[in-house]
Amino acid sequence: MKQNYDYEHFKASADYILNKIDYKPKVAIILGTALGSLANDIKDPVVIDYKDIPNFLVSTVESHAGKLILGELNGKKIVCMSGRFHYYEGYDFEQLVIPIRVLHLLGVNTIILTNASGAVNTSYKPGEIMIIKDHIKLMGASPLRGPNIEEFGPRFFDVSDMYTKELRELAKKCAEKVGMKLNEGVYFFWPGPQFETPSEIKAIRSLGGDAVGMSTVTEALTAAHCGMKVLGLSFISNMAAGILKQPITSEEVDETAKQFSKKFKQLVGEIIKKM
Ligand code: HPA
Repeated sequence: MKQNYDYEHFKASADYILNKIDYKPKVAIILGTALGSLANDIKDPVVIDYKDIPNFLVSTVESHAGKLILGELNGKKIVCMSGRFHYYEGYDFEQLVIPIRVLHLLGVNTIILTNASGAVNTSYKPGEIMIIKDHIKLMGASPLRGPNIEEFGPRFFDVSDMYTKELRELAKKCAEKVGMKLNEGVYFFWPGPQFETPSEIKAIRSLGGDAVGMSTVTEALTAAHCGMKVLGLSFISNMAAGILKQPITSEEVDETAKQFSKKFKQLVGEIIKKM
């Protein structure tokens, strides 16, 4: 059922969190499949379970921790979401605005969204990263559907440059520094939870998608609506369906992510340092 949240709904979550810290983090990171361990590197962490935050959502995916971690990373005060929320879990798009709007109310103005995705572009390889240049979401629904809350942003807004160019350029420089090849491409949102059919992947390729995944887009749209700078980093965990003669498994996704997480962590650490 469609929910209509008002401003106070989000503010109650933010006030609960702000009561536990004496600073306002400017940078947020959402830790996707390949980056969970970054949370261990945060200094002086204040850890809050999602389930304790009033009006927040609760993770249902086993490999996602479900914790908000606030602290310092490479000299910057950050807030980290270890565990995110997906449409396939049963949440409505309208509910998926909650974490991002709460981060905004904490003072966040820059967000790094990370995820794992399947390569649609056959020149990509598992273990590589794709900077998200743009996305395609052909599902009609939007997280911003429903009464607009002017405190967050305008009813209609431009999304032609929502993955901030200056952050993409910074990511490229940092990749060079840590010795990592970066691709830049288009993330195609797939609602899941099933992976795609080989024919769907062919269609996605002809539509202009380079990588496909089940997250990030609702968060990016909500963040752009409230004026945040957005960086999307997609970890290529597998070749998309039909490219190789083998099925896609979540074990493969998790295994590749584990194997390359150190390098990915290094990249994100460097980006945060230089922000
Ligand atoms: N498809 C959709 N989502 C994914 C994939 C994929 O191949 N790999 C990781 N997340």
